[in-house]
Amino acid sequence: MNKKFRVFATCDIGEAIDLLRNRGYEVEVYPRPEAPPKRLIIEKVKSGIDGLITTLRDQIDAEVFEAGKNHLKVVAQIAVGFDNINRADANRYKIPFTHTADVLTEATAEFAFFMLGSLTRKMWPAEHLTRQNQWGYWHPYLPFLGDEVTGKTIAIIGTGRIGLAMIKKCAGFDMNMLCYDPAYENHDYVKAIQEVMDLRLARGIAREKNWIKYVRFEQALQESDFVSVHVPLLRPGESPTPTYQLFNEQTLKLMKPTAYLVNTSRGPVVDEAVLARALRENWIAGAALDVYETEPLPADSPLRDPAIADRCRLMPHFASAARITRLSSDPNKGMAGRCVQGLIDVLAGNYGGDVTMMPYAVNKEAFAK
Ligand code: GLV
Repeated sequence: MNKKFRVFATCDIGEAIDLLRNRGYEVEVYPRPEAPPKRLIIEKVKSGIDGLITTLRDQIDAEVFEAGKNHLKVVAQIAVGFDNINRADANRYKIPFTHTADVLTEATAEFAFFMLGSLTRKMWPAEHLTRQNQWGYWHPYLPFLGDEVTGKTIAIIGTGRIGLAMIKKCAGFDMNMLCYDPAYENHDYVKAIQEVMDLRLARGIAREKNWIKYVRFEQALQESDFVSVHVPLLRPGESPTPTYQLFNEQTLKLMKPTAYLVNTSRGPVVDEAVLARALRENWIAGAALDVYETEPLPADSPLRDPAIADRCRLMPHFASAARITRLSSDPNKGMAGRCVQGLIDVLAGNYGGDVTMMPYAVNKEAFAK
């Protein structure tokens, strides 16, 4: 008989919760769509729960871990990113936390690509024109033209899981790629993509030779028609290669005035006030954003300026928001399934209870013998 573990989930993660209930766990789900107040999370943790299911909008830090001292065994985050969880605090309290890497990789990369397409082919202003009955004629270049992606060069900033998946999508669209990663270069993957692109040319599937290579950050920005960002948020002091405001006045000015920026990583990687100015003053041609310094995007954000609406796509942190990706109970397919499995691994003592062996655990360093 399993011990009757108690779990609090700060949001509803769908049917995957049944996997816990079927094991006899007692699960309480915060029923409202918005985030619970932090004091409520602390109250629930203090009440003696064993597991806490969280997401990006919950600040999980020493206050929460202190409330869970001696009984909270795991925090299971339904997201790949975990910048809302204070890793140092989790380690100090020796509480493992898990995340849902891998299962959202393709969904996020395809969404980044779709945002890029919508932006560069001006789908939003074009649909507005149609809906507002402003489509008066077919003309070779009026009222505006977009830019095609085929044969163009894209900078892939960050070549972790999602960056590599983005490379794969871009290869399918016959794009050239300048890759940059502040921490790790995956030359094997880049070589394999080059081989695929060469084969497509040799077999007449692609019309022109496409290429991919790693370069310095500055070169990637200077020579690309598109820039897609796939780095984790690392604030100064958290890493020797911080990514906080990697896109600032100096670096945005390196981009071509005809280039487009796409960000599906984390908002604070881009200085938003500067980006809004870059769009107003035409330093770059456009931007598509899924993530923001403050979420939801504040009413007074400079990114909402109607003067830049035609070249600034704003999405509601939506890149992983696909049915199977978000909600499948299968830990190999869905974030919900993987989140629940991460929690079960710790509570049920899978892998001999060794957190360092648990595939979805993040802060393994705190448990190394
Ligand atoms: C989404 O942004 C995630 O980290 O899963």
